[in-house]
Amino acid sequence: MSLHATGHIDSFSVNDIRNDFLQVLETKVHGKPLVYLDNAASTLKPKSVVQVLSDYYQYESANIHRGVHTLSEKGTNRYEEVRKQIARFLNSATDREIIYTKGTTDGINLVAKTYGKAFLKKGDEVLISTLEHHSNIVPWQMLCEEVGCTLKVIPINDDGEIIMSEFEKSLTDKTKLVSVVHVSNALGTINDVKTIIQKAHAKNAVVLVDGAQAVAHQKVDVQDLDCDFYVFSSHKIFGPTGVGALYGKQKLLEAMPPFEGGGDMIDVVTFEKTTYNDIPFKFEAGTPHIGGVIGLGEAISYVERLGFDWIHQHEMELLNYATGLLQKIEGLRILGPKENKASVISFVVEGVHPSDVGTLIDHEGVAIRTGHHCTQPLLTRLGVTSTCRASFSIYNTKEEVDVFVAALKKVIDLLK
Ligand code: ALA
Repeated sequence: MSLHATGHIDSFSVNDIRNDFLQVLETKVHGKPLVYLDNAASTLKPKSVVQVLSDYYQYESANIHRGVHTLSEKGTNRYEEVRKQIARFLNSATDREIIYTKGTTDGINLVAKTYGKAFLKKGDEVLISTLEHHSNIVPWQMLCEEVGCTLKVIPINDDGEIIMSEFEKSLTDKTKLVSVVHVSNALGTINDVKTIIQKAHAKNAVVLVDGAQAVAHQKVDVQDLDCDFYVFSSHKIFGPTGVGALYGKQKLLEAMPPFEGGGDMIDVVTFEKTTYNDIPFKFEAGTPHIGGVIGLGEAISYVERLGFDWIHQHEMELLNYATGLLQKIEGLRILGPKENKASVISFVVEGVHPSDVGTLIDHEGVAIRTGHHCTQPLLTRLGVTSTCRASFSIYNTKEEVDVFVAALKKVIDLLK
């Protein structure tokens, strides 16, 4: 059976899912079957996503929002249908609140450079957490340099969890914006963003949530969270690279100035003055990643066909199984929360450098990520410069976890 087909699916197994990713999962790496455990960096793509991309480029490759000819109208309809689909997926009140971006980083930069520049000023404070990815640090530092506001950082405990009492202390009347990660890419920590948002709103601060590592693993409901902005990337939810979405509350988006100037974001252009298009188009200058958006729509449909109940249960089984096996390896230390975490295991092994582990384990066919995971300040706080990270997804199996752990033991023996 393949989950390629649309429509309701009563039952399926991990092998059905693997079938949809067969080309890449059958790849041999250094002569060994690939075991792909770098899903937090980027997920693999199912055949159906590759198929819609290929179909778009082969048969429907025209520009959108510009032509009255059949292909252009067809493309425009598909592009706008995906916007409605993302609105349903995130439960936003209207699809006008969904802005297409190049990905999470682009979405955060958009908010920093439009909302930030327009509404923050000298003396104001931006609050982020120690857990943040560089893409949720650097845009705010750039904003602070530009407008003179101050960046403050919420501390975490030794298990990589936000200390809520410290968060409350860091929130002041000067806090105008809080930007926090939903699920940590480096440790798998799941933040209680709903409480963070409630407390920030009590101080009249707006909240951006970085959902890059969340949307493929759990249901996100932006109205229930009551976040002001939510950003994610397509490539971490089985879609193409170079595309993503920003959710923003309508009132805020309408009040914000545009991001980039160019075609599509305008209403009327004269040499003297330009007026701007309504949201969401005001933030979408130039020909967008049309194929990418269509691919993202199919990726979301794929996830919806599986359902988050199945995804969560499967990923937790793999996480618990792998954690149990890794804990038995002498000298291996897992960083991050002991419970309530996403399917990410960051670890270090005494006397062994993570990059050596990453290189040698690749020779066993196993793909993990090593390094700072674009979270240098977080790793500094935890007293390390680099970790090994295995991250699990819908197509991984316990057998693959066994291969990973056996390969890891072999590599550690070689290096020690
Ligand atoms: N942010 C990506 C990761 O966690 C690239 O690996």
